[in-house]
Amino acid sequence: PAAVNIKIRDSVQNRTKRIKVSGWVHRLRVQKQLVFITLRDGTGYLQCILAESLAKTYDALTLTVESTVTIYGVISPIPDGTHAPDGHELHADYFKVIGKAPGGDETITNIVAKDADPQTKYDNRHLVIRGEQASAILKVRAGVLRAFRKTYEDLGLLEVTPPCMVQTQVEGGSTLFEFNYYGEKAYLTQSSQLYLETCLPALGDVFCIQESFRAEKSLTRRHLSEYTHIEAELAFINFDDLLSHLEETICRTINNALSDPLIAGYIAELNPTFKAPARPFLRMTYADAINWLKERNVPNENGQPHEFGDDIAEAAERNMTDEIGLPIFLTRFPVEIKAFYMKKDPADLRVTESVDCLMPGVGEIVGGSMRMEGLEELMEGYKREGISPEPYYWFTDQRKYGTTPHGGYGLGLERFLAWMCDRFTVRDCSLYPRWTGRCTP
Ligand code: 4AD
Ligand code: MG
Repeated sequence: PAAVNIKIRDSVQNRTKRIKVSGWVHRLRVQKQLVFITLRDGTGYLQCILAESLAKTYDALTLTVESTVTIYGVISPIPDGTHAPDGHELHADYFKVIGKAPGGDETITNIVAKDADPQTKYDNRHLVIRGEQASAILKVRAGVLRAFRKTYEDLGLLEVTPPCMVQTQVEGGSTLFEFNYYGEKAYLTQSSQLYLETCLPALGDVFCIQESFRAEKSLTRRHLSEYTHIEAELAFINFDDLLSHLEETICRTINNALSDPLIAGYIAELNPTFKAPARPFLRMTYADAINWLKERNVPNENGQPHEFGDDIAEAAERNMTDEIGLPIFLTRFPVEIKAFYMKKDPADLRVTESVDCLMPGVGEIVGGSMRMEGLEELMEGYKREGISPEPYYWFTDQRKYGTTPHGGYGLGLERFLAWMCDRFTVRDCSLYPRWTGRCTP
């Protein structure tokens, strides 16, 4: 009979029919009379059996892991107690090899030795992503992006695509990647926030999912030089509205992801105890966090007791999330340690209406704030940070042509995934991660 050409994902619906399927040899077991292949095509895994005369062919006997094959046959359910994915297997009646892999070197195939050194793994990331765990994380990543887009659609935010090549900074000059733009100085964007602000009067509430770039000198497990930044901006809101919107966005997105049958299984495999966090999230002011750290003798970056005005560094954050074990909204950071555009708290002018969302195991995954809406205030902000206002004329204009209270935030996708999938480092949540000294493959 003729064969239906299928993807492995659709194998359940095609049981008992004669099918044709193509993919990569993911696992291989050669016995005297039988060759077992776990076939992989990116949509799933299928156990295939070559029996009798097929098992004795030259191609079967010399088959290697990562070779590509096309296999014909009938998919039949098999009794419980076997390990075949989806409880069925393909009994081949014909197969052909498309491209033969060298075989033998298991350190650079999808089965990169678990104890291979990290450099070898990252040099061979193009092969590592063929592995079960790495590909599962990338599938969850795709699902989480879908989940965010659904959340924003349901909440009525419009997606925009701001430029990555810019001539202004957002989060401080020290982490800018600079390049020559037809003879002018330009940068890779650190954040699309300023552009999102300009969209409010034109498009209403907006979001973007865009690469951001940071020339971070620090080699930590949560810093990349290029990362996927999910940013949103909302008009006519106050600080409480911003916090509720952020909580709503995170919780809806998690629910969307967990109710997506294509990825829920992968999340469960990667992080078996993961569940949506309880609401409301714990809210703690920066000032209370400083006291919390002081009481527990957690030192600041200089090894001294924490004082009001200090940065809360990664290690200190980790102390908080490890002990508290829940998402935390850390609010109202001092003016001096935050960006030039952040609105001051009218009730305490030393601090800003700002928020970081900290997650267990990772720390900060979101940074956001209300923005200055007054022209004078913004001019002072530029001055305080030593920023020349000229290149920012278009940003400043927002305060001249119909200003409004507004605020927004940015969420690091790789950090969100590291939390959700329980990964030690954000590097494993990026397709081809970039950090100091790594721009290959
Ligand atoms: O806290 P950040 O620097 O805030 C901003 O860029 C704001 N302008 C965003 C906004 O309000 N629209 O960055 C936001 C988030 C961080 O909380 C973190 O999750 C992520 O971006 N992030 C990084 N992720 C990986 N590697 C890095 N080097 C990152 N820097 C920031
Ligand atoms: Mg931040």
